[in-house]
Amino acid sequence: MISKEDADILKQLTAEEGLKFVSSKFPEGAVFSTSLGQEDQVITDLIFRNGLPIKVFTLDTGRLFPEHYELLAQNNSRYRKKTEVYFPEATDVEQYVNEKGINAFYHSVENRKECCFIRKVKPLNRALEQAKVWITGLRAGQSENREHMPVVEWDEDRQLYKYNPLIHWNYAQVVDYLQENKVQELSLHKKGFISVGCQPCTRAIAEGEDPRAGRWWWENSHKECGLHTH
Ligand code: ADX
Ligand code: SF4
Repeated sequence: MISKEDADILKQLTAEEGLKFVSSKFPEGAVFSTSLGQEDQVITDLIFRNGLPIKVFTLDTGRLFPEHYELLAQNNSRYRKKTEVYFPEATDVEQYVNEKGINAFYHSVENRKECCFIRKVKPLNRALEQAKVWITGLRAGQSENREHMPVVEWDEDRQLYKYNPLIHWNYAQVVDYLQENKVQELSLHKKGFISVGCQPCTRAIAEGEDPRAGRWWWENSHKECGLHTH
């Protein structure tokens, strides 16, 4: 387990040191979920370049952009390390689509949350089954909901620790890291997409707009899919 002392140590460490610390403490139970976004590319680079024993996985919802698959392939060939891919249960998707429609998420918040639950949350829970520490690319600056998230927290529902190594990074630090280390990123970022989720639920944003304004843009509700809320 992560003791209070460990948590205090983690708060003082850089992201790279923290990932090394966590992976040496949990050589078989540390996992990292990547959406292939910019923050996640920083963490992927830190894990793979240092050869850390951390399982890296992504959730393929079946509705991603072609650019996601291009980057996944680029990561595989650059690092020669595997990113595991988790898919939703076929029967869940078939039932939802056949009953409600292929793009039913536009029709109500309830439909949208159900789609996120089937395509993201359930596969995430499966990917986390044996995990002791779940590493994410969350940043406090991304949204109000994330502002007060800590570096390390106990996830009671999932019975594991959540470690957010970049929680206190700002966006400029992320971009600088990617440039300095020549880390590839989604080509969508150059076309006005900052926070990128599924293709039908993400649009490019205008200059000065909230970075998450392009996510589920037709909704007024708080913009979360349920991965990081309980
Ligand atoms: S979301 O909740 O709005 O979709 P966001 O795109 O900001 O999340 O990403 C925040 C973190 O959630 C990422 O750093 C990553 O750890 C995790 N995450 C989001 N989407 C995925 C995905 N498709 N596959 C794996 N992890 C994901
Ligand atoms: Fe479904 Fe959109 Fe959620 Fe993706 S982001 S799982 S397509 S509702």
